[in-house]
Amino acid sequence: MMLIHFMTLFPEMFTGPFSYSIIKRARERGLATLEMINFRDYARDRHSTVDDTPYGGGPGMVLKPEPIFEAVEDLQKRTGSKPYIILTTPQGETFSQETASELSKKPHLLFICGHYEGFDERIRVLADRELSIGDYVLTGGELPAMVMAEAIIRLLPGVLGDPEAADNDSFCDRILEYPQYTKPPVFRGMSVPEILLSGDHGKISVWRRKQALLRTARSRPDLLANLELTPEEQEFLKNKGIDVIG
Ligand SMILES: C[S@@+](CC[C@H](N)C(=O)[O-])C[C@H]1O[C@@H](n2cnc3c(N)ncnc32)[C@H](O)[C@@H]1O
Repeated sequence: MMLIHFMTLFPEMFTGPFSYSIIKRARERGLATLEMINFRDYARDRHSTVDDTPYGGGPGMVLKPEPIFEAVEDLQKRTGSKPYIILTTPQGETFSQETASELSKKPHLLFICGHYEGFDERIRVLADRELSIGDYVLTGGELPAMVMAEAIIRLLPGVLGDPEAADNDSFCDRILEYPQYTKPPVFRGMSVPEILLSGDHGKISVWRRKQALLRTARSRPDLLANLELTPEEQEFLKNKGIDVIG
């Protein structure tokens, strides 16, 4: 069972994305417990102030350290556990499938969601890890936290009906997934590749690996850079006009 806390000024934002389908079932079955904490509740003044103007001038507001520190300390006291703390920030290391897999082994995660111009620099000392979901800037850390938590929760044991499903996904082998088809066998003149209807699982598996490599070479050649390819796989890609250094 994994416990995940989200520290945010907008807890209601989390309701929709975590109330459907696989994540909903994971919560109902107790595989993941998700809780939102509004750190405004830890503001000390009459106006529940959580942000202030930046020292040295400049646009926007900066999140103050006191409410976030107090919320983290209170969480540790309440749960008796020290969560692995993730600060959502576009300045962090880019989140990946590998990071998701690593984090899925932690018993307790806490995502701190920023807003406005960002955090007071001193908040950084709370974090075990600073993570970004890509090189673009969003208005808050809520969507990034939801994206990361989603990717992590589906990897928890028992969450996906078929435990092999996640192993075949894109990035799991550090390459993109092979093409998938379902019924009907012919749709608007487009046929399902013959091999997938053959029932020959050995050949299907070779075909899928080659298609996955081809797709990766065409869409994400950067992923092939650190991959060890067999001479046959290199030859296959070469015949498709793709030169790979093995
Ligand atoms: C408007 S952004 C602040 C950006 C900050 N001024 C900077 O340049 O780094 C507000 C908050 O949204 C979140 N955020 C925005 N983009 C993100 C991204 N790509 N990945 C993770 N968090 C992000 C962070 O929590 C950030 O503190």
